[in-house]
Amino acid sequence: MAQTASDSTIDALLKEGRTFPPSEQFTAQANVRSDALYREAEADPESFWAGQAEKYLTFSRPWDTVLEWNLPFARWFVGGQLNASYQCLDRHVEKGRGDKVAYLWEGEPGDARRITYAELLEQVCRFANALRGLGVKRGDRVGIYMGMVPELPVAMLACARIGAAHSVVFGGFSADAVADRMNDSGSVCLITQDEAWRRGTTVPLKRNVDEALLKTETIRNVVVVRRTGNDVPMDQGRDHWYHDLLADQPATCEPEAMESEDLLFTLYTSGTTAKPKGIKHTTAGYLLQTMYTHELVFDIHPDTVFWCAADIGWVTGHSYIVYGPLGNGGTSVMYEGTPDFPDKDRWWATIEKYGVNVLYCAPTAIRTFMKWGREFPDRHELSSLRLLGTVGEPINPEAWIWYREVIGGSRIPVVDTWWQTETGGIMIAPLPGVTTLKPGSATRPLPGIGASVVDEQGNDVPLGGGGYVVLTKPWPGMLRGIWGDDERYKDTYWTKYGDRYFAGDGARIDEDGYFWFMGRVDDVMNVSGHRISTTEVESALVDHPSVAEAAVTAKADEQTGQAISAFVTLRGGVEETTELASELRDHVGKLIGAIAKPKWITFTPELPKTRSGKIMRRLLRDISENRTLGDTTTLADANVVRELQSRAATEADKEQ
Ligand code: WTA
Repeated sequence: MAQTASDSTIDALLKEGRTFPPSEQFTAQANVRSDALYREAEADPESFWAGQAEKYLTFSRPWDTVLEWNLPFARWFVGGQLNASYQCLDRHVEKGRGDKVAYLWEGEPGDARRITYAELLEQVCRFANALRGLGVKRGDRVGIYMGMVPELPVAMLACARIGAAHSVVFGGFSADAVADRMNDSGSVCLITQDEAWRRGTTVPLKRNVDEALLKTETIRNVVVVRRTGNDVPMDQGRDHWYHDLLADQPATCEPEAMESEDLLFTLYTSGTTAKPKGIKHTTAGYLLQTMYTHELVFDIHPDTVFWCAADIGWVTGHSYIVYGPLGNGGTSVMYEGTPDFPDKDRWWATIEKYGVNVLYCAPTAIRTFMKWGREFPDRHELSSLRLLGTVGEPINPEAWIWYREVIGGSRIPVVDTWWQTETGGIMIAPLPGVTTLKPGSATRPLPGIGASVVDEQGNDVPLGGGGYVVLTKPWPGMLRGIWGDDERYKDTYWTKYGDRYFAGDGARIDEDGYFWFMGRVDDVMNVSGHRISTTEVESALVDHPSVAEAAVTAKADEQTGQAISAFVTLRGGVEETTELASELRDHVGKLIGAIAKPKWITFTPELPKTRSGKIMRRLLRDISENRTLGDTTTLADANVVRELQSRAATEADKEQ
């Protein structure tokens, strides 16, 4: 069962008895006011989704078939043609809404830009033309490695306009991580910026790209957006300034008519092996999933100012900063920097400045704000808020209540939304005008979505029971596979339960059918809402010349949800020093990115193994979490564990 939450935590969660029905006032103005939509979807899912596609999507050629389901490969709206950038931009401009603001962009140093739909369309067209000029064609893959600047969504939509799939790499990842992803996807072009702003200092994105490109062969051109203005080396012939490229381009660009099932993007996410998976999303189904959920779960109206405070380098930003909100013609705040720059009230100042109505963020951020104290939000007028959302990891009831009371003034709904990179958009979440909320629960599957909790054998657990989360029906935004690896796609998601998608999460389902998520059940950790695989960190550690062997587990952490705990055996003759521990942390940072650095490193002459030589991770987790050890009968050498327990305790003490 789920390794991350102990049963007592779950029991406590399930005893969480508070409920919050929607207020009459909220329901009266909500997009969804009754549960008829659930019944409609249940009665005939395909015609339900067909109706939603008609409502949300503009096809240049209508589709013939709603769904072709050749388990586990789905094709939605087959025969249809459309273009994602047309859907997100031209449509709104053609309807006379060119002057509507798409992005209220807030730079970290305090500069700001308001970008209308007409302006965004023009930029996208110019950049699309420029990419074509560099030889990027329909069907190519393009890498994007940027910070949170407006040119990032421009780059994504420019790719979509010419039918190239983008592959965005989070700007916090290292040069090696960029190289791996470019090589795996075979990207032909890489879009970056000189440097990014972060907490008042700069992140050397272009220099990282230069380093990455020493290890890639397919990238022919690099486009560089100027952001900080500091000098960066430019390679004549290969590197191009964005502003130079765009200068002479026409302001219009014919969008490619893409098939519904043409690849829109790949986005890499950690799995249970060291190699990240390039999750594939296609055009029509993904757009529908993001637009439908954006409008209904966040109760978006034409004048709503929405702020998804994620990074576009993760799926949350793809779906709820770019495709969902732009597809719906909404207005979004986009913020470049960290929440504590220049002070710990930056988010609240931003909400006041732009009159934000809906805020969507991760529980880890909320727990950080709790720690900083309510004086920071209390400095600002937050009465524009009418709904709050969370995503990325289970939210503890205490944080949920704090969020509702301190940020929401105890008057507005909080929607906890469960989904994954693989699902494309939100799957399990309240409809705020209809659903009674329970702090700590993502509530129920949305209309059109089938989910349940099953035991090891695949039987539905009775209400009140716990088990594995499965998705029982194909859905439009589902991943279409893993780039270049259909077998891994089948093995990871479709082998355990055959015709049901295995999500890799544990949950309990309560008497009302509400889902209470308990964390991952595989070797994937969730640090600050970001997925990191234990094996990926282990292979980064053993890549260091001093390391013989390493095993990594997650340890519960008050703030980040989970933190990384590493057990490391050094090569003979190497001394165990704190300097070496910090060198190893930096090594992981270099190979993966700062988010993957272990918080704790415990050196050990030996790892606990079974007699057949398999590392007993279960025991390491128990040791990390300072729990009574589970079954140790298969352990080859019991002394190893006793020694480790005392070493891990010393490590944890150092932290205090
Ligand atoms: C976890 C992020 C509990 C879960 C959108 C899932 C959650 C993984 C929630 C996906 C939630 C996400 N409650 N757990 N509301 N939302 N998760 O791919 O373990 O970065 O499998 O997608 O985050 O992470 P990913």
